[in-house]
This record gives sequence, C-alpha cells and structure tokens, in this order.
Amino acid sequence: MTSKRSPGVVRRADTTAIHSVDHFALRVPELEPARRFFSAFGLEPRDEGGGLGVYAKGGDHCWIRIRETGQPKRLDYLCLGAYPEDIDAIAERARVNGVALTDAPEGAPADGLWMRDPDGNPVRVIAAPKVTPSAPDAIDARPCVTNPIGVPIAPARSQGQPVHPRRLSHVLLFTPDVLRTTAFYTGTLGLRISDTSQDLIAFSHGAHASDHHLLAWVKSEAPGLHHSSWIVGSPDEIGMGMEQMFAAGFTEGWGVGRHVIGSNYFYYARDPWGSFAELSCGIDFIGADTEWPSGDYPPEDSFYLWGPPVPEYFTLNTEADR
Ligand SMILES: [Fe+2]
Repeated sequence: MTSKRSPGVVRRADTTAIHSVDHFALRVPELEPARRFFSAFGLEPRDEGGGLGVYAKGGDHCWIRIRETGQPKRLDYLCLGAYPEDIDAIAERARVNGVALTDAPEGAPADGLWMRDPDGNPVRVIAAPKVTPSAPDAIDARPCVTNPIGVPIAPARSQGQPVHPRRLSHVLLFTPDVLRTTAFYTGTLGLRISDTSQDLIAFSHGAHASDHHLLAWVKSEAPGLHHSSWIVGSPDEIGMGMEQMFAAGFTEGWGVGRHVIGSNYFYYARDPWGSFAELSCGIDFIGADTEWPSGDYPPEDSFYLWGPPVPEYFTLNTEADR
C-alpha cells in the first residue's frame, strides 16, 4: 500500500501515529471560576460557543474547551491531532485492535474519529497542524549562565513581568489500569512509552517529535484529569507564576521543584476543582529519529529531585465519584 505524505513535515519513518494533543475539553459546574483561574495562570479564556476557549495570550490556537454543566468537573474529551494522511490508517488500526469508532459525546463537535479509551474517556482524532513543537523550546538562560564579572544580572522585583505560558506541553490522567490504558494509546494511536515506574505511572511521547511526555497516566481508583502542563520561558517564570497565582488567591499547589522523569522544573497550581495546572520549563525532548532510552524507575527515585513536601491533596482524584 502506498500513502501520500505531506511535504516538509517532521515525522518518524514508517510510523502511523498522532502528533499532538490538539486540545482537551472540560465540563465544569460554572464557567466563571474557570475564567478566573486560567486568567490568573496567564492564559486567555475567551467566550466561545456558549463556553470558554482557552488560548495562550494573543495566540490563535485553542488549547482547552470548557463548557458549563452545573455538574462536578470532569474531563470531557481529549482531542489529538494527526497528519491528514494518517487518519485512515489510524481508523484501520482501531478496527484491527477492536476499538469501536463512536459518535461524539453530546454537545461535542461531530467531526474527526471518535473512540473511547479503556477508561471510557472520549478521544477525538482530527487532521490538524502539528501544535506540539518539533524542537525543544528556547529557555531564557540568564538565571543559569555563569555570571559576567562586575555585572548584576537579576532584574529588580519591580521589573518582573506577568507570566504567560506559551503552549500546552502535556496532560496527565488518572487511570485504574496503567498498563491497559498505555496499550490502547500506544497500540492504536501510536504514542511511544518514554519512561515508567512499575505499573504506577507511565509517560508517553509523540512519535513525530514531542516533549518527553504528551500524555501520561498515574494509577488511581478511577479515571480523571490530574493536571495539564504549560511551558514557560525560564525557571524564574515558574517562580513568578507561582507568586502570580498566590496574588490572585490561588494559594494551594505544589512546588517549585524539579522532576526526575522528564527533567522539568515545575510549579503546580491547584484549580477550583482540585486538579492542577503545571508551569513547566526545561522538559526533555524526544526527536522524530530519537530512540529514547526508556527507564523503569523505582517509585522512590522517580518523582522529584527536589521540592517542598508533597501536599496530601496532590494525589487526590476529585473525579473518582463521577
Ligand atoms: Fe506534568
């Protein structure tokens, strides 16, 4: 079988796979707390279609679609982007693997391939431009370089600018069965395992170049959204973003710290529904021709290199009773 390939795109040879988390969707009890939280986080919620679309500041790509239901918050669906020439092959892979194509959930866009992951999360695959980058992000290296002699390099506190995340990096979901879930995302959607810790957590990257993780899963009693992660320009922006959240009244969270798996610096802000949005910088990157040396890390050595004590609510799955 021959297939057409888009010119100039970054792709792993002979590999059918999604390339991006195009966006994700949430159902929330009320829109206004969502608007306040994501605005404080430095993103730009816009009124769209009776709900909110959440963009990077001044950006043209919608990363989160939020609708109000009056019901407890839950993940509505994941929307994954693929190259147009891969859509039919992904549909065929689903058929061979016994994954049924379904209708869209009520109120969601009908187009694209719809299916359910093993936990029942609706997954939509669309032909779309690659919105996860194909090379690592530039980092503002000023805090990390050797100081020039005789020149102070820290800006004055009054010169600190508001923090605005550039883009979505990844989404981490709770799942009752990490191995079953990863088998679906790797076997049908072409994601590749980056690293794991036993059957407790797994991180996956896009085959066609992505951050160390695009999607990840952590074991829980039920499905749910643990966090979305957003790229900022420097470790300073992570610290200043944390202060920005404190100043807006969002004082619960975890960090600042540095992860082991993925290597990124982080701060997690707790959202109004008990899940998290992560400010992230310096995450490992996996190219389209990289064979990542996957590791299976012992749990006690996998989570973080340094950081404050982990609050009890950090591992709470607030969607467990959905
Ligand atoms: Fe993360």
